[in-house]
Amino acid sequence: MEKILKVDHITQKFGGLVALEDVNMEVDSGEIVGVIGPNGAGKTTLFNCITGIYKPTEGTVELAGKDVTGWKPYQITKQGFARTFQNIRLFRKMTVLDNVIAGMHVHTKSNLLDSIFDTPRKRREMTECQENAEKILKIFDLYDQRYEMAGALPYGKQRELEIVRAMAARPKLLLLDEPAAGMNEQETQELMHRVGQLKEMGYTVLLIEHDMKFVMNICRRLYVLDNGRLIGKGTPQEVKKNPVVVEAYLGKDET
Ligand SMILES: Nc1ncnc2c1ncn2[C@@H]1O[C@H](COP(=O)(O)OP(=O)(O)OP(=O)(O)O)[C@@H](O)[C@H]1O
Ligand SMILES: [Mg+2]
Repeated sequence: MEKILKVDHITQKFGGLVALEDVNMEVDSGEIVGVIGPNGAGKTTLFNCITGIYKPTEGTVELAGKDVTGWKPYQITKQGFARTFQNIRLFRKMTVLDNVIAGMHVHTKSNLLDSIFDTPRKRREMTECQENAEKILKIFDLYDQRYEMAGALPYGKQRELEIVRAMAARPKLLLLDEPAAGMNEQETQELMHRVGQLKEMGYTVLLIEHDMKFVMNICRRLYVLDNGRLIGKGTPQEVKKNPVVVEAYLGKDET
């Protein structure tokens, strides 16, 4: 099994605040792995360390065997990480389709001359992009809305479009930060089903989620953060039974 992500002894400090302390984590190819923990536990900070937004104070991040610690976010994207954010970040005034195509730009080879002069290579790439984008939009049932403005979609669909856009970059690892945040029960159900499908499509996913039913259902393994430290890991069943986790987190939730 290929190791897609290896987070090795990561510590992240902000002045006196230790947001992450000595965190280790691994994700294998084809897995869907969850990160849970109370507010302020350090989950988003972990994603920010992985995707190059922060350079960890200590420790290393490896993507598919390559040490990417301290790389810039765009370099890391090129290397094969794609993510969504806790708050929606779409181009609201662009169409659904163009949002997805924008997510694909990392892989196009056209250079500046191609974009000034309408070269055959450019045209061929655009067609390929469009076809790919349409294919994944169909999977998420967004195809019929492809010419609508992203900002006009219902909230749940906007969140799904973000995932589609991240998928469009064909990442080795897809990081989702609270994809179900703000969704109603039905939207959450639908999303859960679709994220489950990602696995069958061969995507490797690391996701942060507060909705316990969501993570318990689709994640093969979970990591539990509390106060910047890893306090538990294992299958959803193991985590549910871990007294430390129950004390810190699950006990406060009606699971
Ligand atoms: N850039 C920053 N500068 C200073 N402190 C930060 C920074 N980013 C995060 N923190 C702090 O680090 C801690 C962890 O925050 P983080 O956003 O990672 O938590 P989280 O687990 O994602 O929480 P939530 O569930 O609310 O999204 C918090 O105390 C937060 O205030
Ligand atoms: Mg967060």
